[in-house]
Order: sequence, then C-alpha cells, then structure tokens
Amino acid sequence: MKTYQLYVNGEYVNAKSSAQIDVVDPATAEVIARTPDANKEDVDAAVQAARAAFDDGPWKDATAQDRGRVLFKLAQIVRDRADELAEIETRNSGKPIVEAEGDMEDVATCFEYYGGLATKIHGDVLPVPDNAISLALREPIGVAGQIVPWNYPLLMATWKMAPAICAGCTVVVKPAEQTPMSLLELASSFSDAGLPPGVVNVVTGNGETAGAAIVEHPNVDKIAFTGSPEVGRIIMRGAAGTLKKISLELGGKSPNIFFADSDFEAAVDGALFGIFINQGEVCSAGSRILVQRPIYRKFVDAMAEKAKTIKLGNGLDRATKMGPVVSREQFDRVRMYQDIGKKEAKVAAGGNRATGGALDKGYFVEPTIFYDVDNSDRIAREEIFGPVASVIPFDDEEQALKIANDTYYGLAAAVWTRDIFKAMRAVKKLKAGIVWVNAMQPTYVEAPWGGYKQSGVGRELGTWGVEEYMQVKQVFINLSENPVNWF
Ligand code: NAI
Ligand code: MG
Repeated sequence: MKTYQLYVNGEYVNAKSSAQIDVVDPATAEVIARTPDANKEDVDAAVQAARAAFDDGPWKDATAQDRGRVLFKLAQIVRDRADELAEIETRNSGKPIVEAEGDMEDVATCFEYYGGLATKIHGDVLPVPDNAISLALREPIGVAGQIVPWNYPLLMATWKMAPAICAGCTVVVKPAEQTPMSLLELASSFSDAGLPPGVVNVVTGNGETAGAAIVEHPNVDKIAFTGSPEVGRIIMRGAAGTLKKISLELGGKSPNIFFADSDFEAAVDGALFGIFINQGEVCSAGSRILVQRPIYRKFVDAMAEKAKTIKLGNGLDRATKMGPVVSREQFDRVRMYQDIGKKEAKVAAGGNRATGGALDKGYFVEPTIFYDVDNSDRIAREEIFGPVASVIPFDDEEQALKIANDTYYGLAAAVWTRDIFKAMRAVKKLKAGIVWVNAMQPTYVEAPWGGYKQSGVGRELGTWGVEEYMQVKQVFINLSENPVNWF
C-alpha cells in the first residue's frame, strides 16, 4: 500500500498536517493507499509556490511556444504511461478498464489541443477614433485553484490544468479525496515534461478544509470547480471575499428525448449508454428518459431486457461493462434513491444492491430503470449520479420540451428523431449548454462544455476553456504630438 505525499514546488513533500485519508478500491472496499489530508498551512505553501512561480520564476518568461511544447510533452508522457495510469484509475474509481483507457486517450488529446492553442492566443487592435493605437492584450490571470471531482479523476483535472498551463497561469489542484491516485502519479512526470517547480502543485485533502482554504486564499486569482451544486454555492460565497473569477460545472438532470419516429434500436442503445456509462456517474448523464407514447411500452421493455445483460464486476476485468460506484457514501446515496424510486414509480429493471460472489464486497448497485415516472418525482428532479434511469412518457413535441426544460439544471439534453425540422425546433428550445441530436454523450475537447441555469458558470474546453484563465488589458498608445488639448 502506497502512502502519498503532496506535490509542491516541483517535488513530493510531507504535509504539515498529520491527518491522513484512506483511499479505497470501491470494487473490494479495501484501503489501497493513503494521502495527506492537507490543512491550511499546506495549502498556503502550495499557493506560495504557485504565486512565486507566476511572479518570479522562469514560467513568466516562457513563450507561448514553450508552453505548447510542455503540453505536447505531457500528452506524450500520458500516452507512454497510459496502461499504468488507466489501471490506477480503475482501481481507485471502479470504472471499467476499457473506459479508463478511453479517459487516458482523452487526457492526452486534451493536453495536445491546448498545446496547439498556446500559440494561437492573441489580442486585438481596436479602431478607436484618435490618432492612436489601441490594443487589447490577453494575459494569464495568475494562480488558479482547481477543485476536481471523482468521476473522471485525471480527465477532469486535465480539463482544468491544460488550459491554465496554455494561458500561462500556475496551478494548485486538489483531486477529490476519494480518487487522488492518478493525478499524484502523473505529477512524477511534471518536471520531465518541462514544467518548472511551482507551476502545477497537487494538494490532497477534504473539501471543507483543503478545498475551502484554496477558495478563500487571497493569493489565488481564480477557482475552477466541478462537483455538486451545494458545493458550487459554497464556493461562490467563499470566492466572494476576495472577488475571484470562478467557473463552476455542477452536473444536471439531463433529458434524453425519444420521438416515435427515431431509429428504434439506436435509440434504445442511446438511452442505455446515456445513463449507464461510467456507472451513471456522469455530469451529463441522460437520467431523464422521455419517450413518446406510441413506442413507450416497447421502449421500456427493450431497455430493461438489455439492462439486465450489463455485466457488473471488478473494473480490471475486461469483460466488465459496469463497475462499482465510487464510494460507500455514493453507494448509500444511490441505494436511497433506488428506494425512493420504488415508492414513486414502477421498476422495469434493477432497484437493488448488486450481489453474488465478488460483488458482495464492493459498492455495486444494479443498473436500474424506473418508468411511469412523473417529472415532479424526486427521482426526476434530483441528481442521483449513479446507474438509475427515470423514464417519463409524453404525448407530443410541445409537452416533451416543456418537461425537458422543467428543471433547475441545464447542462445537457439530447433529442432523437428522423425529422430534421423537429430536431432543429428542439435544439432552439432546449435550455441546456450542450444539445445532442441522435447521440448522447459524445464530448470533444474542441467544443465548449458547461451549463445553463443552475448547472454552472462559465465554459470548459475549446477556446472558451482558456478564456477562463485569462484577463484582458486595454492599452492606448498616443501617436499625436499634443494629446492633452485641455488648457
Ligand atoms: P462534492 O461537490 O462534495 O465534491 C467535489 C469536489 O469538491 C471534491 O474535490 C471535494 O473535496 C470538493 N469540495 C467539497 N466541499 C468543498 C468545499 N466546501 N469547498 C471546496 N471544495 C469542496 O461532491 P460529492 O460530495 O463527492 O458528491 C455529491 C454529489 O455531487 C454527487 O452525488 C453528484 O450528484 C454531484 N457531483 C457532480 C459531479 C459533476 O461532475 N458535476 C462530480 C461529483 C459529484
Ligand atoms: Mg460533498
């Protein structure tokens, strides 16, 4: 069992805090590692390192080309270490190894994208009416505090670190307490990639303490967070004291809408994939499945039949399609919603803890499909973040879109139909930051990611993602001999 240290100022260091966090393999419920539970002093040391690296270190003189090369090197290192990192990710988060390998590919691609973007960030020349040159310069915002969730541990960290490095910021990143291992392992390659000491610092610890200390630190200029809306609100308040720029990605209750004219087989698979990929621990999970009446019953039956064939097991087994949920806490939460669902609606599949053989030890739950769900039910309103689908019938287009938009969330939505006009009407009316047509979940680094309504603030990925780490400086250069014509 490995005992990790913090990664600060280019090296692994002991925490000043003596408290530790047990890291658990959710497939076996065994402790597989320990990390420091960093305190305020530890966070302060990491922030000081990031501050010094931003203000005085070699990083401030790194050119855009230099930053691009570092990011390409990080991508190459992730590719070289992909098998090792994917296995760690699976052991720590429970996700199927095939999905963890996909994550590592996405991590490398994300570093590459921002490696390429580094040299394309440029300012503007503005047509002001004077004899002057007016410029808008785009500069890095400074020290970025980044708070990462446990569902895609290394990928979510990368969505935040890569654009920050691209922009020329320095970083203090905190992985989720449940899943710190992949990022702590990758940190051993940071200096090989050419990151000077202090540019990226990794601090492990609990959210209420270490996370809050990052949010409130006066020397942190920006906070990026992915997680629950409750914590999103806490972070907004915490950042108010020092008026930090924030970006928040807070999940959803995303509608996946199936019209009667959609390709039936593809639609059923799209519904299942949309909610059961990564054990349903996906911010954009299609957790509300809206199905038009003429195909409703057949659709529910087809989903249920296929859901029962999903092979649960240890994620390290290549045959596994669904692993355990990430933690005891999340297991209890999903079980609670399974019980609520049984009272609120009808069960088409699952509804219980998954048992039998090795499953008994870990945090396994059955892929669950509730149907005849009403959109006012708790299982239709509250994010469950597990393999639990709520199927809701609808009569016509207008009703479907009304139900779809009747939620405080607005991260993603999908619509399935063969009618391009119907699809485009839905695209215009859906109040969500991401809308898929005849697909659910494809996510590309080139395209913006983030929520409408209470699903968040700001956007990650693409050129939008790097804006979150930059600020604009307006410059006026007078060219006339007597500019102050006042006396
Ligand atoms: P959480 O929001 O508490 O944790 C996410 C991250 O925030 C972790 O790194 C945690 O240490 C940190 N954090 C927690 N409290 C904090 C605070 N006061 N200040 C600063 N940082 C803090 O999520 P949790 O409790 O693990 O899961 C609860 C629910 O949140 C899930 O069931 C799910 O619905 C939602 N969630 C959504 C995610 C998404 O991708 N949008 C990811 C993870 C959870
Ligand atoms: Mg929490």
